[in-house]
Amino acid sequence: KRIAVLASGRGSNFQAVLDALGAGTIRAECVGLITDNPGAYAITRAREAGIEATVLDYRAYPSKEAYEADLLAAMQACRADLFVLAGYMRIVGTAIVEAFAGRMINIHPALLPSFAGLHAQRQAVEYGVKVAGCTVHFVDTGMDSGPIIIQRCVPVLEDDDEDSLADRIIEEEHRALPEAVALFCEDRIQVEGRRVRILPPA
Ligand code: GRF
Repeated sequence: KRIAVLASGRGSNFQAVLDALGAGTIRAECVGLITDNPGAYAITRAREAGIEATVLDYRAYPSKEAYEADLLAAMQACRADLFVLAGYMRIVGTAIVEAFAGRMINIHPALLPSFAGLHAQRQAVEYGVKVAGCTVHFVDTGMDSGPIIIQRCVPVLEDDDEDSLADRIIEEEHRALPEAVALFCEDRIQVEGRRVRILPPA
């Protein structure tokens, strides 16, 4: 299978996927990175891995529509089987979600449906939950609202702040995302409405 990754920043989740590809635990080829941020460290990670990076500088576009038109074209050019949003910080427009329905997944640093949106770790600390975690889900036209593939949880400690919690969650993200990508590439994810079933190995 061919996978392409969208990232906006540091790219540690992108790196986790690259490491799993290198270890052979994901049977696929990463055919490209697409980013909206020319300063994303993910670009450096792509270059070091010999992967083409497409930079669509969001701030250089006159409108979100113009950006999304180029993003759609860049994604179509990847001819990927799966698009992985790994720390991609923009809402994906309906045209793109529909163009790749069922072939786009996202990692969110909270146990959805709790704490969707930005600063999920801060939301969790401020709410006072005792368990937090991350969610890998299919992208639908909502925000962080598609069918859930994998969730992993971590304890929230009494002296946690958003950074200490984020550091604990990110460790689980680096396990959950590559696992979900591997399952997709082995055709082991079956979606029935909102429910997702993980099939046994072939
Ligand atoms: C991760 O916590 C991810 O869940 C959230 O933003 C962070 C991105 O980290 N969307 P990285 O760019 O993958 O290191």
